[in-house]
Amino acid sequence: MTLVKELDLGTPLRKSSTMVSLTIDGTKVTVPKGTSIMAAARQHGSQIPKLCATDSVEAFGSCRLCLIEIEGRRGTPASCTTLAEEGLVVHTQSPRLASLRKGVMELYISDHPLDCLTCSANGDCELQDMAGAVGLRDVRYGYDGEKHRTEAKDESNPYFTFDSSKCIVCSRCVRACEEVQGTFALTILGRGLASKVATGTADFLSSECVSCGACVQACPTATLNEKTVIEQGTPTGVTNTTCAYCGVGCGFRAETQGDKVVRMVPWKDGKANEGHSCVKGRFAWGYATHKDRITKPMIRAKITDPWREVSWEEAIAYAASEFKRLQATYGRDAVGGITSSRCTNEETFLVQKLVRAGFGNNNVDTCARVCHSPTGYGLGKTFGTSAGTQDFKSVAQADVILLIGANPTDAHPVFASRMKKRLREGAKLIVADPRKIELVRSAHVQASHHLALRPGANVALINALAHVVVTEGLVKEDYVRERCDLDAFEAWARFIADERNSPESMELSTGVPAADVRAAARLYASANNAAIYYGLGVTEHSQGSTMVMGMANLAMATGNIGRDGVGVNPLRGQNNVQGSCDMGSFPHEYSGYRHVSDDATREMFEHMWGVALSKEPGLRIPNMLDEAVGGGFKGLYVQGEDIAQSDPDTQHVVHGLEAMECVVVHDLFLNETAKYAHVFFPGSSFLEKDGTFTNAERRISRVRKVMPPLAGYADWEATIKFAEALGYPMPYSHPSEIMDEIARLTPTFSGVSYEKLDQVGSLQWPCNANAPEGTPVMHVDRFVRGKGKFMLTEFIPTEERTGPRFPLLLTTGRILSQYNVGAQTARTPNNAWHNEDVLEVHPFDAENRGIKTGDRVLLQSRSGETSLRAVVSERMQPGVVYTTFHHARTGANVVTTDYSDWATNCPEYKVTAVQVSRTVGITEWQQEELKRDEFLRRIEREPAHVGH
Ligand code: SF4
Ligand code: SF4
Ligand code: SF4
Ligand code: FES
Repeated sequence: MTLVKELDLGTPLRKSSTMVSLTIDGTKVTVPKGTSIMAAARQHGSQIPKLCATDSVEAFGSCRLCLIEIEGRRGTPASCTTLAEEGLVVHTQSPRLASLRKGVMELYISDHPLDCLTCSANGDCELQDMAGAVGLRDVRYGYDGEKHRTEAKDESNPYFTFDSSKCIVCSRCVRACEEVQGTFALTILGRGLASKVATGTADFLSSECVSCGACVQACPTATLNEKTVIEQGTPTGVTNTTCAYCGVGCGFRAETQGDKVVRMVPWKDGKANEGHSCVKGRFAWGYATHKDRITKPMIRAKITDPWREVSWEEAIAYAASEFKRLQATYGRDAVGGITSSRCTNEETFLVQKLVRAGFGNNNVDTCARVCHSPTGYGLGKTFGTSAGTQDFKSVAQADVILLIGANPTDAHPVFASRMKKRLREGAKLIVADPRKIELVRSAHVQASHHLALRPGANVALINALAHVVVTEGLVKEDYVRERCDLDAFEAWARFIADERNSPESMELSTGVPAADVRAAARLYASANNAAIYYGLGVTEHSQGSTMVMGMANLAMATGNIGRDGVGVNPLRGQNNVQGSCDMGSFPHEYSGYRHVSDDATREMFEHMWGVALSKEPGLRIPNMLDEAVGGGFKGLYVQGEDIAQSDPDTQHVVHGLEAMECVVVHDLFLNETAKYAHVFFPGSSFLEKDGTFTNAERRISRVRKVMPPLAGYADWEATIKFAEALGYPMPYSHPSEIMDEIARLTPTFSGVSYEKLDQVGSLQWPCNANAPEGTPVMHVDRFVRGKGKFMLTEFIPTEERTGPRFPLLLTTGRILSQYNVGAQTARTPNNAWHNEDVLEVHPFDAENRGIKTGDRVLLQSRSGETSLRAVVSERMQPGVVYTTFHHARTGANVVTTDYSDWATNCPEYKVTAVQVSRTVGITEWQQEELKRDEFLRRIEREPAHVGH
């Protein structure tokens, strides 16, 4: 047995306020009602042998190895399926049990290849462990080498193999796929000795399997095994850390040999994921040691010069002297910085501190600008705090789920598995999305309503839903009277009841039949617990902030805020987008969302940081670029964000960057933005540093260093060096000291420290004297702002309109296997599932244009054009096309416009008027890009790989 494995209780841990006491092997044990005898025994140190049971899935009772004796009862029941009861006297060891178990193991082993010494699971195999545990020394029937399972190994999945010769048909994998992941990709075919695990297709890769790894995790033998373990051997060390991909923030155990990662295993005690994972966090970590990593600092005087590798000292001194020169020549406000939602809280905090205290202005912004800034604004106005209201496990109490502009099975897969579980239990689902996303209809899940609205009509839809609630007497009046600002409610109720907001009036804008809207509104409003979950399909619009307030209004009017099972919950895109906002990355706010013009707050920061701070909000990213084009903004420090690829209207971004005199890019790879950079600081991946991430639940989790930074410095260390060179020393020796400063300066973080995080695993802010253990559900007795405030949400159609030249609407999203602009995932075998962005087109629009699946099409908008391959898909509605933005060579943002949210400037990525036509080859723009971009061509020629 490997040293690093977590304890397996055999059956899921139960939580109940009712406890039962029983005696197991002479020891009295007390456990929550509903706990199996197996789990009760294991919790108290008594290991009953088992094979078909594991604590990630419900007990199945098939292997008959876990037999026990109960005084006063006949027979030998299975301890995995027998519940602990008050007063039971249980014996787990006796000569009879030993003999029965030995017989069971003998049958298993007689049908199993005896190649333990060379097996990849040697030392990490439950079958081997159990043979030892029952004292099996001889097999009467003998293994004669004639395996009845002779199929070839299935090695189609890039990350794990399936070797059926080792399968004991315990069905743990099948049950994990169903119960934990909710994909139902596996089944057991046949009976008795002929039974076997099957995918329903030729192999794993071509099946429904989404490569979440739950089956691999559940498998007790080497049948399902990680390829890295097969290649590298069994891990010998472990470090708990947090996934660096999406905003679910799954806890992982990085299992290692020395400082080399062997596998990432989802952490059972990770409160965001409770032992589950998706293909990205579980398997796609090879980018961290990919050969494309830049590990030497580089500088160049002009962006047309070749890069020159230099020492850290020289790079930092050069960048600092340039920034000083720019400020001396063009003024203090001529430079700024961008923080990263991929970096840690501590690193983000340091970059904004560097800008405010080191540069002496507030020109700091973050990539959250282009995703969830409307969430901060909208929830701040209505509830008083800029974050989601629930913890993830709250969804298990929801009776109706309203999912708007989010596609969790692709973008937030581990949360999607929780949601699907609740839906299988009977909760109802309303999907509001232009596209037929997977949750509209998939294995054992079917939405009650799919409101397939037109892109850009979110506010029209939310107003129509609220109109039904108000005019049909569905408002929870007691709740509103007690919890909300009544004047604001009455003004809102008059506004929303107006006929112009009725589903019938809004039908022209939304494209959703009024009757469907009315039925969905009634379903949501009449639920005991109704919860809203939403994504970038809400925020990345010209009315993103209005829509967030519209959802908050609906939730307050129906009393759905302040307890488990309800709430308004943003599904955050990047791992630390919540944290980067919390840490004061916006130009107008310090950490904890306090305005820079607030004298008391500013004085506190001035006192702590020992410098005078500006009370004028600084420039947002789009304004920095505008100013650069205008000649007034000259220097930018960009940490961990590729604005040339991820921000809208690429040409404008490029013009802005080209106009600057010193761009410092701090990243893992030479990204698109680095083409316009003068200094490159090599970055560090999440495996190379200590810190914290904050997920979409406001959960602060530790990131722990697994290996030394490949470039010598972690990102926080490089920022400190840069600050020192600029003449503003920031003397921290460990990220824990940065967190201590954050806690001193930020009321919602005042109870957070590394020590506390190490004790409890993770904490949801606010965490302070009022809530020392954090706050899973917000606004329980009162809203953070006091009374909840209804806001008027007039629907104003976007200025981006279709017309004869651009008759279709383009909307964008993500796919499961890739992440954002592909910097990480495109350098992993995840390309096996998605190696290019495609354009989904409805059959009607495709036929009109003579387009077939696989054709290369030209996608044109008022801003630009690009080309990609088409997929004709019924998932689209007529008039709407869809693509992802994961691959640089597609350049999807070349076509997006510079329209943005009225309140926050969040770009309107989700609505672009376009034309699509058949074409051959690639556009001039792409040819130019490919010519210039040696590195992209290399990726195309040489598939990325795990490891180095
Ligand atoms: S593949 Fe593994 S988990 Fe699945 S039935 Fe076979 S031994 Fe059990
Ligand atoms: S990897 Fe996940 S989706 Fe694929 S078969 Fe295993 S459990 Fe099912
Ligand atoms: S769901 Fe998100 S946080 Fe969890 S493993 Fe996948 S990418 Fe990582
Ligand atoms: S572990 Fe209980 S029957 Fe298999």
